[in-house]
Amino acid sequence: MSAGADRGLVVLVSGRGSNLRAILESGVGPRVRLVVSDNPAARGLAVAGEFGVPATVVAWRARAEFERAALRHIGVHRPCLVALAGFMRVLSAGFLARLEGWVVNIHPSLLPRFPGLDTHRRALESGAREHGCTVHWVDERLDGGTVLAQASVAVRPGDDERALAARVLEAEHRLYPATIARVLCGAARPGEALRDA
Ligand code: GRF
Repeated sequence: MSAGADRGLVVLVSGRGSNLRAILESGVGPRVRLVVSDNPAARGLAVAGEFGVPATVVAWRARAEFERAALRHIGVHRPCLVALAGFMRVLSAGFLARLEGWVVNIHPSLLPRFPGLDTHRRALESGAREHGCTVHWVDERLDGGTVLAQASVAVRPGDDERALAARVLEAEHRLYPATIARVLCGAARPGEALRDA
């Protein structure tokens, strides 16, 4: 795979789909060819529908089964990049290899701080003054992989989890489409940091 030309993007979701919406509303939106959800109740499926993008559910019974079926769907579109947007599963090295590593994710913390769940609560509990989000290449580790871009937000006195999450989510919605656009323009290959613009 390579990030160029007119090849498209496939987005994997599990839930709300607000990052998917941000991608679809951005300049790279027209390149989204397919949305795949492991969760039939994901609101992201309706978001895809609003934008006229095909969406499909691939149920997660076992990882190998999901990955086989997802690769079949993804392969039809020959995308140059797969973007995880609130996709709540860890993918295998074999799956990532089939996509030649062209898989990115957004995570709601400044990695390597707070991989995994409940990042906003953990940031507040740690007393951090700064929190944020990270776009990174995906590898087989939970929220592992080379960092492509980060956006920081201040933790304000009196913040609760909800207020902090909302501030981080706004940053996510700006950072993710912008970073995807840069990757699609060839600013990094899998595992590489972004080259300066
Ligand atoms: C986002 O905070 C994202 O960083 C994380 O899961 C959340 C998904 O939200 N991986 P949405 O489905 O994009 O609204």
